[in-house]
Amino acid sequence: MVQEIGLIGLGRIGRNLAANLIKHGVSVQAWDKSSETCNEVRALLPNLNLNNDIQNLIRALHHPRCVMLVVPDGDAVDQCINKLSKLLEEGDIIIDSGNSHFRDTEVREKLLLTKGIHFLGIGISGGPQGARCGPSFMVGGQLQTWQVIRPLLESISAQANNTPCAGYVGKGGAGHFIKIVHNGIEYAIMQILADVFELLSKGCDATTDEITKIFQEINKGVTAGFLVEAAAQITNSKIKNSKKFLIDSVDDRAEQKGTGNWAVELAFEMGVSVPTISAAVQFRTLSSQHPPIKKTINIPMNEGSIPVLPIEDIISLLSPGITCAFLSAYAQGFSLIGAAKNRFGTIIDNRHVAQIWGGGCILRSELINLIAKSQDPKIDTPNILQADNIQPLVLGGIAPLRELIKASLSADIPVPGLYSAAAYIDSLNQVKLSTRFIQLQRDYFGSHGFFNEGQKTIKHGPWKKDNGL
Ligand code: 6PG
Repeated sequence: MVQEIGLIGLGRIGRNLAANLIKHGVSVQAWDKSSETCNEVRALLPNLNLNNDIQNLIRALHHPRCVMLVVPDGDAVDQCINKLSKLLEEGDIIIDSGNSHFRDTEVREKLLLTKGIHFLGIGISGGPQGARCGPSFMVGGQLQTWQVIRPLLESISAQANNTPCAGYVGKGGAGHFIKIVHNGIEYAIMQILADVFELLSKGCDATTDEITKIFQEINKGVTAGFLVEAAAQITNSKIKNSKKFLIDSVDDRAEQKGTGNWAVELAFEMGVSVPTISAAVQFRTLSSQHPPIKKTINIPMNEGSIPVLPIEDIISLLSPGITCAFLSAYAQGFSLIGAAKNRFGTIIDNRHVAQIWGGGCILRSELINLIAKSQDPKIDTPNILQADNIQPLVLGGIAPLRELIKASLSADIPVPGLYSAAAYIDSLNQVKLSTRFIQLQRDYFGSHGFFNEGQKTIKHGPWKKDNGL
């Protein structure tokens, strides 16, 4: 097993990964371009070997070296690679464990291979806490390079069902591709939970304490998972030295670093529908648009005309409805993975991905465990919602989900996560979609033509003039 590693970048993730590696007996040679950061970490991790420059870090490692980058995606990665490629030798390995775009990873891999340097693009999930206690690793690159680093990553990763949540998913940028999908689903589930909070808070007039209890209840059985647990802790949190709840004072302009957007861009490119991921990205954008568009419309609301929804009616809908909405988000993400099936040299196995996401990462949940169990790599299931152990949850959850949406609408509350999730499932349930009407509209004004069912000849409607013009 690799016994020593170079680590560049000692931000929140880097320093916690270093602590995890040290705990597992790995000698870590580290460097960060900020001397302030180095000093801070020196005090926190006395067993970390801190170097004052990148040259010293490389000198301190034995060939074949393994250097892990934990720096922001983009220029910072390129700058490090540029420096490292002049210092490293053939056979050494660079790992980029940031949230890089998979296409950048592929360009970097090719460039480094011309110098005989191996490169892995690894998506890491779980935040600082995960990095310290066991994250989830989604690995892409050359299989033989993965085999070198595998024992080390498996030893420091989270475990789910006695299996490490560290796995090889394919060549080139496969690891970073899977991380982009992970983050897309993360955005969708976060929005669904934010919608539920809003419905309870504004629609049912529930107190923050009541909402905390509800989230704690939901965090049981099949709906349980890290993000639901986090929801309960968030609603329960107060401003330091105050009795005020944090949620009541926080600015609602949501930020985003771009991975959710990448998931949506990829979905467009690959011809895959991801309405809830897209709605989640768009809602964050709406919340923070410049100039602001919130309250640009002022529909008069007669005070007291909006009914306060009876909370007991809503509570009974929550677990099945949320389960259904979550499954919709997962199904959209796995469809994106399905569309990339042959993109990364090996067929990406849904079960393997769900296993990697079973622990350590932001998506860890009962549902992801269920999805892992439902997926048989030998059977090609076009959509995860068709699996035998998933279908009953969709069938039992779609009506409660629709009721939650109706309740939100009746209280004038936008719930983009909930309605896009339900619309996705309802769309999958149709024999024919309203898009047959779109086809005729296209032909009506643009003479684009349409196909009749089961036929391959282009037709036009009676509005097309037969005079050749
Ligand atoms: C994870 C997270 C992590 C990060 C997101 C946040 O899996 O640990 O996804 O990577 O929290 O990148 O992204 P936004 O700033 O876009 O919400």
